[in-house]
Amino acid sequence: MSFIPPPSAIRSIMANAPNNAINLAIGEPVYPPPTEVLRAVAEKVAYWSHGYSPNAGLPALREIIASQYEPTASADEICVTCGAQEALYVVCHTLLDRGDQALVPNPGFLAYPNLVRMAGGSPIEYPMPLHSGERFDIEALRRLISNRTRLMIVNSPSNPNGYCLKESELAEIAGLCASNGIIIVSDEVYRELYFGKQRPSGVRAVWQDCVTISSVSKMFSMTGWRLGWAAAPRHMMPAFTRVHQYLTTCAPVISQQATLTLLQHPATPEYLSDMRKELKKRRDMLSWVLRNLPEWHVNPPNAGLFLFAQVAPDWQESPAEIMLEKYQILSVPGNAFGSRGRGFLRLSFAAAQDAIKRAGERLNQADSYAAGDILAGK
Ligand SMILES: Cc1ncc(COP(=O)(O)O)c(C=O)c1O
Repeated sequence: MSFIPPPSAIRSIMANAPNNAINLAIGEPVYPPPTEVLRAVAEKVAYWSHGYSPNAGLPALREIIASQYEPTASADEICVTCGAQEALYVVCHTLLDRGDQALVPNPGFLAYPNLVRMAGGSPIEYPMPLHSGERFDIEALRRLISNRTRLMIVNSPSNPNGYCLKESELAEIAGLCASNGIIIVSDEVYRELYFGKQRPSGVRAVWQDCVTISSVSKMFSMTGWRLGWAAAPRHMMPAFTRVHQYLTTCAPVISQQATLTLLQHPATPEYLSDMRKELKKRRDMLSWVLRNLPEWHVNPPNAGLFLFAQVAPDWQESPAEIMLEKYQILSVPGNAFGSRGRGFLRLSFAAAQDAIKRAGERLNQADSYAAGDILAGK
């Protein structure tokens, strides 16, 4: 029988939440999508084709996605999918044979080990740094490689902790993978959500023979559009496209047309820059609130949507339960992302400022209102 994944810890936490709970477990920005683009989409939608598109996506959309890579890709190296999630499934299903091993991050996005098992492979966990003060342990990675290792999933900026692999770390990883015939699958869904001056590095800058996955979900606050893609060397595309074809035929054509409008729209760059500023404010508010909790260690990330906080010793057994029972705040326990997350709690600053302020109040940080206002520039 095929592998059926266990229920998602995050979905169960949300499903069992009391009505008055403040949701800091959420993995999607509580932020409006670009209004001008939505208006343009509404004006055009009736005139669009409502039939299937080519399996790999509309040629014009593949072209604009390809042109945004550095170094640029070509349209025939892009397959448009139903979100990054489907791209991850297609890539694992295509590249893994039964018994192959795939290196996955710990802590890491909880879908990875399940997607690898669903493709008949075995996930092998490699340590991801727990915060920006740590360096990636390339020697630990080297020790995990065997003659069955087929691919490595890299997620930078990372879910759950926003860790951004430096270009030098990516180059070391790429060198090791290249010399062992391992394909890198780079999940970059959080790469546009950064708070420093520069966009975090991507694998493609150091090794073009990788698979890159992204989507409009997080960066444009459009998780429901279900629009993502995989960029990969041309020779992999026929197999990816055929697996994708038998799963979904093509990504929803309305979402493809809408994404094309989005990526061509003059308001889009400013939208992204405003969203980064807003998320940075929320990150700072939430960090401020948590930093005052005795014996907690909070290291604000440079990208992504989450704070991965090390909780006080008396919280370590069941941090998310304590957060919910004592303060009615929803969060995700660190060990949902792998054994190295034990003793940590993932809290999302994708939540609205008001929710973060109310969470601060519940955590008995009376000053958080004032701090929230100052940080929000009010
Ligand atoms: C690291 C990571 N990759 C992929 C996804 C899936 O994104 P999409 O909505 O594009 O399918 C998520 C969603 O939470 C994620 O955190």
